[in-house]
Amino acid sequence: MLIAQITDTHVTTPEVAVETGVDAIGALRRCVEHLSSLSPRPDLLLVTGDLVDRGDLDSYRLFQKALAPLGLPMLAIPGNHDSREVMRDAFVGHAGIGTDGPFLNIAGETGGLRLIGLDTTIPGRIEGVLCEDRLAWLDARLSEAPQQPALVFMHHPPFETGLTRMDGWRCGNPEGLAPILARHRQVVHLLCGHVHRAVDTTFAGIPASIGPSPSHAVGFNLEPGAELVVGIEPPMIRLLYWTGSRLISHLSPIDGVQRRVG
Ligand SMILES: [Fe+2]
Repeated sequence: MLIAQITDTHVTTPEVAVETGVDAIGALRRCVEHLSSLSPRPDLLLVTGDLVDRGDLDSYRLFQKALAPLGLPMLAIPGNHDSREVMRDAFVGHAGIGTDGPFLNIAGETGGLRLIGLDTTIPGRIEGVLCEDRLAWLDARLSEAPQQPALVFMHHPPFETGLTRMDGWRCGNPEGLAPILARHRQVVHLLCGHVHRAVDTTFAGIPASIGPSPSHAVGFNLEPGAELVVGIEPPMIRLLYWTGSRLISHLSPIDGVQRRVG
């Protein structure tokens, strides 16, 4: 079972792309071509927020149109650049977008792996949070199937990356999340977005990662107080291979050239 993480695609309309100088939709199309070329093709897409840059319906339509050729099931949660209301409208009737209650939390499964997505957004804010309501929802989902391996995904990471500015905008209330993940021993991975870089660490004793954006990257700089630099790096995508008992994470370069050696 192969899961592709799509994160921080920041799709805009062509007019906005001219303003920003970032061809996010072109980057997403190249990412989709790359996913189509994989063997095996992914079985499912996990979208970890910032689908679009400005929260507008036209951009959500472009996002959907770009992914349509894959014909894959998808589970998605919002990021700080998304609009809950517009996203809900854009995906009305789609089983992979949460519709219960005020948050766009979502639960699903593939190949025996439970997939639980948390909406960490705070309208109008860059940073995120997991309030008591959202933590109670997570706790309830994990309590439903304590024997079933589970992956938890969310936009804002609850852990530091060393990138000062991004760390200032991470998910608040990590001290509320950690004991829940630690208590439910079936959680095999915590998957995040937001940082526009590939990062691997642990959180609450669980393997945790951040997926790279197929579009633009946040520059690597661990100096305290370093200013945020956004640029273009060789784009990659995170792929998660679920064997039925083990989750294996791969990074796959989008513009790589396969050439037989030897
Ligand atoms: Fe982002």
